[in-house]
Amino acid sequence: MSLDLLAAPPAADTVLGDRRGSRPWHDPAAYWRSRTAAVAGISGPVATIDVGALRYNALDMLVRASGVPIRVASKSVRVRDVVDATLALPGYHGILAFTLPEALWLSETVEDVVLGYPTVDRAAIAALGADERAARRVTLMVDDLAQLDLVDAVVAPGSRAEIRVAIEADASWRAPGPLGHIGVRRSPVHEPAEVANLDRAIAARPGFRLVGLMMYEAQIAGQGDATGSGDGVIRWMQRRSSAELLDRRAAIVQALRDIAPLEFVNGGGTGSLEFTASDQAVTELTAGSGLLAGHLFDGYRGFDLAPAAAFSLEVVRKPTADIATVLGGGWIASGPPLASRQPLPVWPAGLTTLAREGAGEVQTPLQGEAARTLAVGDRVWFRHAKSGELAERVDRYLLVEGDRIVGDTPTYRGEGKTFL
Ligand SMILES: Cc1ncc(COP(=O)(O)O)c(C=O)c1O
Repeated sequence: MSLDLLAAPPAADTVLGDRRGSRPWHDPAAYWRSRTAAVAGISGPVATIDVGALRYNALDMLVRASGVPIRVASKSVRVRDVVDATLALPGYHGILAFTLPEALWLSETVEDVVLGYPTVDRAAIAALGADERAARRVTLMVDDLAQLDLVDAVVAPGSRAEIRVAIEADASWRAPGPLGHIGVRRSPVHEPAEVANLDRAIAARPGFRLVGLMMYEAQIAGQGDATGSGDGVIRWMQRRSSAELLDRRAAIVQALRDIAPLEFVNGGGTGSLEFTASDQAVTELTAGSGLLAGHLFDGYRGFDLAPAAAFSLEVVRKPTADIATVLGGGWIASGPPLASRQPLPVWPAGLTTLAREGAGEVQTPLQGEAARTLAVGDRVWFRHAKSGELAERVDRYLLVEGDRIVGDTPTYRGEGKTFL
């Protein structure tokens, strides 16, 4: 089915207002009971997207971006219909893809696909070099001349389409003293002079055209500041890192623009839309997780996402009166192996996994007062920690509005696409 997020325009207060009626998820009992009713006729594990919640999230991120266009991070969605419906909203433009085979596939219908991570996929590079149209639409991400050498080794500059490239520069914060490196380990180029040197070296290479810069501030965008643990330190770190990044990103962009024009300067993620949009050096933002809203994005002061994606599993046994065991559940998210990477049981409220078992490969015991009310055959609702990874577990999402199924849509997996 093709999704249209503008089909039922939201009430005027949906984005900015605060009436409970416009945000049904603020009444969890009614919200999750509606979803249970929607899937009443279905057996087994089901994954669902509430279309109203998705619409709310997509529009709310536009408000937060205050006019700066948003590129959709496809890794955080992995459903074509959801990406396409989001791109149909004015304010969203282009995709940040996660593998080159995926980028080539998306470029069949989307004109602007930036691959957000370096690639060494030789077969896909050969396909890109042989396809003028894809080469006009897809931009590779580089941070090291070795990645360009690899492209040249697959297909020589004279016998391929010109390859568009963007530089990823390190957006982490080199904090003073023992704190050291704060952020993710990605690009080796950090200082303006290092990025400019790489730019000049790329400009001197035939067969490549440098078109953009990306700097993803994971320590701000991907780190909640209201998680209930160490928030003061996190906020201090984010203030310091933001100030440092504003200066350094401006200097990097200036240095690159002195060498050659840039089509785009990309930054940010779901968690940093306000900050990154305020950076005058940035021309576009990236966001993906905020659409389906994995529960890791619950712990931010600045915004409140609607739980759009959720999955439901069935109770198959009751080891004790206050424990209900569902079939499935061990859909653990990537990242550090912390409890927060487990799915979050959201309904009935108050259930927790057992410390000794966690979310299991085949079965997940859930404990709490609410388990007393659960019988064999009942459903429990969960939210995945991440936003895109749930799609790798299921063939399709059921699309629901209130207590009705209004359609379904295949995930990448359902389309037979296992990119990563
Ligand atoms: C390069 C890049 N940009 C932006 C993002 C933000 O994506 P999201 O909005 O899904 O957090 C990510 C996420 O890891 C990323 O790797």
